[in-house]
Amino acid sequence: MDNKKIVLSGIRPTGQLHLGNYLGALSNFVKMQNEGKYDSYYFIADLHALTTNPDPKELHTNVRHILAEYLAAGLDPEKSTIFVQSDVPEVSEMYLLLNMHVGIGELMRTAAFKDKARKALGITAPTQGDDDEDVAKEIIGASTNKRVNAGLLTYPTLMAVDILIQRADFVPVGKDQEQHLELTRRFARRFNSFYKTEYFKEPQNFNFGSAPVKVPGLDGSGKMGKSEGNCIYLVDDEKTIRKKVMRAVTDGGPTEPNMPMAEPVQNLFTILKLVGTPDKVEFFTEAYNNCSIRYGDLKKEIAEDIVALTTPIRERILDIENDDAYLHRVLEMGAERARARAGKTLADVREIMGITKF
Ligand code: TRP
Repeated sequence: MDNKKIVLSGIRPTGQLHLGNYLGALSNFVKMQNEGKYDSYYFIADLHALTTNPDPKELHTNVRHILAEYLAAGLDPEKSTIFVQSDVPEVSEMYLLLNMHVGIGELMRTAAFKDKARKALGITAPTQGDDDEDVAKEIIGASTNKRVNAGLLTYPTLMAVDILIQRADFVPVGKDQEQHLELTRRFARRFNSFYKTEYFKEPQNFNFGSAPVKVPGLDGSGKMGKSEGNCIYLVDDEKTIRKKVMRAVTDGGPTEPNMPMAEPVQNLFTILKLVGTPDKVEFFTEAYNNCSIRYGDLKKEIAEDIVALTTPIRERILDIENDDAYLHRVLEMGAERARARAGKTLADVREIMGITKF
């Protein structure tokens, strides 16, 4: 186990997981875990969720949901280290230490920060251009009683610590997190060069052998996200799934043979490719090309394929979610392993920085 490369990824507990999360990320975590080539760490980033000040009860419920969903999808606490970020206090301490080498300017220029800062202040981003100076002015001089909390600014430090404290080699994340990963590498290099050490290695993003899977939404454009009518949650029951898919956006139908597909229709075909069998894809593609397609039939097929895929997962989620004793056991085991590795790194970092006992 010791010389395997480390894979680590985290997810903020902000709601339940949908089919996009499952097909785009979670199902790959499970595959990698079962291949046994890597030593994997998957965690729930509850401290990161605090940056947007969630309701305490809701936060706790969301951690429970994600944990149950991880387990129901096939992450196995015997094979992977599954833990909650706040169960590893070493992370919080190292976050303080690493912050001493992070510039507030570079944090303020992070795209995700600018987005979230504007959201926190209730300001809409300009439609074109994005002047860092304007954002800074808005934040510092905002003539509003709303504020941008310091945790939001230092979000990338915390994420870098998640990764560096476990000395991860690979971090499977989506495009929206690439900038944070780049900052992690920069912080690692900076730490190394300041203390004249080679202690941290630079973590790399990770693609699962093939192009990343992007699951489109049901509302006609873009990828599957949490907005109303756009996504299928793993916990959606069969009736809900059928209703959502039948309402998916399409167009008036092809009017001549081999017409190019409009985006909403293309999206449905993409989903069918992900959840259905090749012969169905071929059947409906041909029906589209010779103008005999009935979108209702296509949607029925997609709905049934999704139901077949998610029903066993949903049933496991519902079982696991209420099994407090099991959840407790899983997290105790995960925390122990995650803390062992984190503790070692933290001790080294303290020493490198000159915090040593008398
Ligand atoms: N910022 C990530 C997201 O919003 C979640 C996250 C926190 C994470 N810490 C991490 C992802 C460490 C990978 C590694 O999706």
